[in-house]
Amino acid sequence: MLDLAAQHADIKEELLSGFASILDMGHFVLGDSVQAFESDLARLCEVRHGLSCNSGTDALWLALRGLGIGDGDAVLCPAYSFFATAATIVRVGAIPIFCDIDPATLNLDPQDAIRRIETTPNLRAVISVDLFGRACELGELAEICRDRDLPIIQDAAQSIGAVDSQGEKIGKATRIACFSFYPTKNLGALGDAGGLVTSDKDLRDEIARLRVHGEIEPGLFGKIGINSRMDALQAVALSVKLRHLERWTQTRRRLALQYDALFAERGATPGNERISAGRLRLQTPVAACDPARHTYHRYVVRVDAQTRPGLVRALEEEGIASEIYYHRGLHEQPALQAYRPEIPLPETERASRETLALPLFPELGADGVERVIGVVTRTLEAAQV
Ligand SMILES: Cc1ncc(COP(=O)(O)O)c(C=O)c1O
Repeated sequence: MLDLAAQHADIKEELLSGFASILDMGHFVLGDSVQAFESDLARLCEVRHGLSCNSGTDALWLALRGLGIGDGDAVLCPAYSFFATAATIVRVGAIPIFCDIDPATLNLDPQDAIRRIETTPNLRAVISVDLFGRACELGELAEICRDRDLPIIQDAAQSIGAVDSQGEKIGKATRIACFSFYPTKNLGALGDAGGLVTSDKDLRDEIARLRVHGEIEPGLFGKIGINSRMDALQAVALSVKLRHLERWTQTRRRLALQYDALFAERGATPGNERISAGRLRLQTPVAACDPARHTYHRYVVRVDAQTRPGLVRALEEEGIASEIYYHRGLHEQPALQAYRPEIPLPETERASRETLALPLFPELGADGVERVIGVVTRTLEAAQV
């Protein structure tokens, strides 16, 4: 699904010179290079404070604990996301309240979220997810959260570098935003890493303590935290890559538009329209009205549930990777059965049966897109006769 070797070959000299300086300094955990990366991250998001940690999962845990969320509290989140979005809620002792998604954006459906907010006692926060890199449009939900003093934790694991529906940088409008720098992310470290941004100084300070076991001053521990200190080598790699992120994101957007245009030529339907008879049975993602709202971390199409396995196989036979994100809704995960809502989540369940991520990464190139489209079109046309 991506070519990290090509990406690293392009920036090898910059990376090696950064690593050499860390070896010379001999400071491997936290320290100046980590602080420099935290400042870079805050600057990118136009937010006062950036903090680093060891994964996107830790970032979510730290955000929840930093806001004082724990036993018996409820936290709302979309049912269509990576497992960590909900698992961290459970790990702090709280209860995930799942809401359904908008089939057009695949992000949480604000109206369904509002309905569930109104019927949930002890609700303490909302986690919004910018799925596949598309900024979640909160609309009226943002005002309702403000009126009820409900903080929004933005799971921006996939959306670094985008802007939201108000044109603000991702991470700026919410109380706190959490990033994953897992190697396959748009900004990927050379191992696990994560980060947070907030303009709330008290929250920043609380999280800075929680990521070093809850240490208040040397040897004095006020709360139970975790060990989630970023390595200097990861910080250096991330600062180098951050300098190239905008260029990589622009290339992703260009390739996504190429996918959209070529699929349209072959009879596919944009995701906000119904597939009519005689068309290629594939829906392309609904375009964001401003391309800057999407990082295209993943290019996700919809096909009929019964044709998806054959399409995955056909791509594999041609040496083309594809990926199903996610095979089931969070409420359908065995580990989260205790939190399955009584009200159904039909759009989450339909998306998990129909969506498929096709390769999209900066080094794919226009030829790569054409090749994928050729195989997808041939396979679907053969399935339709
Ligand atoms: C939406 C979302 N949230 C959270 C995470 C967790 O991040 P990490 O793998 O860095 O712990 C991921 C990573 O895949 C993600 O995609």
